Amino acid sequence: MRLLVIGCAGQLARALVRAGSAAGHAVTALGRPGFDLADRPSIAPALAAAAPDLVVNAAAYTAVDRAEAEPEAAFRLNAEAAGWLAEAAAARHVPFVHVSTDYVFDGAGGAPYAEDTPPNPLGVYGASKLAGEDRVLAAHSRSLVLRTSWLCGTEGANFIKTMLRLAAERPLLRVVADQHGAPSFANDLAKAILRLAPGLVAARAGDPAFGLFHLTGAPHTTWHGFAEAILDRAALRGHPRPALEAITTAEYPTPARRPADSRLDCGRIGRVHGIAPADWRVALDDCLDALVGPLREGAR
Ligand SMILES: NC(=O)c1ccc[n+]([C@@H]2O[C@H](COP(=O)([O-])OP(=O)(O)OC[C@H]3O[C@@H](n4cnc5c(N)ncnc54)[C@H](OP(=O)(O)O)[C@@H]3O)[C@@H](O)[C@H]2O)c1
Repeated sequence: MRLLVIGCAGQLARALVRAGSAAGHAVTALGRPGFDLADRPSIAPALAAAAPDLVVNAAAYTAVDRAEAEPEAAFRLNAEAAGWLAEAAAARHVPFVHVSTDYVFDGAGGAPYAEDTPPNPLGVYGASKLAGEDRVLAAHSRSLVLRTSWLCGTEGANFIKTMLRLAAERPLLRVVADQHGAPSFANDLAKAILRLAPGLVAARAGDPAFGLFHLTGAPHTTWHGFAEAILDRAALRGHPRPALEAITTAEYPTPARRPADSRLDCGRIGRVHGIAPADWRVALDDCLDALVGPLREGAR
C-alpha cells in the first residue's frame, strides 16, 4: 500500500513512517520545511506526486497554551488546512485518516465520552480541532477522524520527556492529580492506523468503517498517576527518583483551561474495527528502555 503521512517530524508521523515501512508499505512523509500544509495550492500537487492509497494527517498546531494567543494560526492549520487536505483526498478518491483530540470535550461529563457526546472545547486548541473534525467529515465521505489523548512516545516533546528531565534536576515534582484521562503511545496509535488502513481502502462511502472514533491507551489515570508510573519505572533503570506531590489544577495555572475528565470511551472502534486500547504501561516500559536504558538486574 502507498501511504502518505502529513507532518513528518511529529510524534505520530514518525511512528507511522517507522511502522508503515516495517510493515512493507511505501510510505511518503511530507512536512515542513519542504511542505507547508497551510499553503493550500501545494496540497493537490503533493497528493498527485505521492499517488497514495491512503492519506493520514498527523500534522497539527499542537501548542495548547500558545494557541490561546495565536487562534488564527491554530484554526488555519487545525481547521482550514485539515479541510483542504480532506477535499484534495476526496478529489482523488483516496480515503483519509485525520487525528483529533480529547480536548474537544469540557471534561464535566463525569464518565468516558462516546463519539456522539456533544463536544464543548474549553480552549482555542480544542475548538480549532473540533472545527477541523467538522470540515474533514463534511469534505470527504471516506474520512475517519480518530480522537486520541495524551500522546507520547520516544520522539518529540512530551510529558514523559519532561518528567525525566525534571527528575534529573529537582528533588520534588508537583503534578496535577485532578485531571483524568489516558496516555496514548504514538507506536500503538500508528499500529492501529495501519490495521485500519486496508479496510478503509476497500470500503465505500457510507460504510460504518468511516466516521468518528475514539482510541486511547488503557487504563485511565491522572497526570499524577502517569508521572508516578514514569518515575517508578525510570528509577528501576537507574534514573533519579524525586519525591512526587499531588496538586490540583488550581495550583498549576496555565493559559489554556484543560478538561478535568477527558476519558474517552473506545468501544466503537472495537465493535467496528476490532481494535482495542493498548496497555500504556507496556508501551511505557518500551519507551523507557529507549530513553533511559534497560531495567537494572533484579528489577521487574
Ligand atoms: N500531543 C498530544 O498530547 C495530543 C493529544 C491528543 C491528540 N493529538 C493529536 O494527534 C496528532 C499528532 O500529534 P503529535 O503529538 O504527533 O504532534 P506533534 O509532535 O506536535 O507534531 C505535529 C507536526 O505537525 C507539523 N506541522 C505544524 N504545522 C505544519 C504545517 N503548516 N505544515 C506541515 N506540517 C506542520 C509540525 O511540524 P514542525 O515540526 O515544523 O512544527 C509537527 O511535525 C495531532 O492531530 C494532535 O492534534 C495530540
